[in-house]
Amino acid sequence: MSDFIIRPLVAADIEKIKKLHARLVPVNYPPSFFLHLLIQDSHSSLIALDPSTDEPVAWVSASLHKSNGHLIGSLEPHIQLLTLGVLPEYQHRGLAKRLVWEVIASLHNNPSVPVPPVYTHVCTTNTPAQAFYESIGMRFLPGSNPSGIPYVAKNLYKYPPAWARKATHEENKLFESRDAYVLVGKVTV
Ligand SMILES: CC(C)(COP(=O)(O)OP(=O)(O)OC[C@H]1O[C@@H](n2cnc3c(N)ncnc32)[C@H](O)[C@@H]1OP(=O)(O)O)[C@@H](O)C(=O)NCCC(=O)NCCS
Repeated sequence: MSDFIIRPLVAADIEKIKKLHARLVPVNYPPSFFLHLLIQDSHSSLIALDPSTDEPVAWVSASLHKSNGHLIGSLEPHIQLLTLGVLPEYQHRGLAKRLVWEVIASLHNNPSVPVPPVYTHVCTTNTPAQAFYESIGMRFLPGSNPSGIPYVAKNLYKYPPAWARKATHEENKLFESRDAYVLVGKVTV
């Protein structure tokens, strides 16, 4: 199969991306979340299309925060990865890695300034996603305890009851917890 097409999200993609999102990540984002991805200069979202069907199979979204962000420990400019998902049949082909690199590049377009640190939240039970973020150079933000146990953002995720009924066993396990780790790192673009 020829290479995936990666391009910015446009308004006509929103309904498809909402469905893709609902399939992969049970977090209930409000409609305004998707609108902000389209209209805010500080936000960027990319989708990957299967060239044989022209259908979206993966997406990423991120935001650039120039100063005091709202994430713990992020008092400097940083990029926050907001959402990321690759359909199971397209996973393990480097698509997430490519999307993350490209979304960072789209937000960081000044080569004279170093790429700011990248942050993201990841569900404490979602070990494959944690392994993915570690593979691109991100590390668990330590908590303020002497033993360096990772910081946990409690009750970050609100799941709709419908998801719990429809989800497969495997999906339920990935998103079993409502708590999140924060991963941070310099991701090379
Ligand atoms: C996490 C996710 C985005 C990874 O997508 P992907 O396109 O398969 O990832 P890549 O192919 O770019 O993987 C790059 C590296 O990440 C690591 N990795 C990816 N998936 C992994 C998994 N399931 N288990 C362990 N390591 C994994 C590997 O080191 C991999 O490198 P390799 O292929 O050379 O071994 C995908 O599994 C997904 O969409 N999961 C469901 C939604 C989700 O959890 N989103 C993140 C929410 S925070």
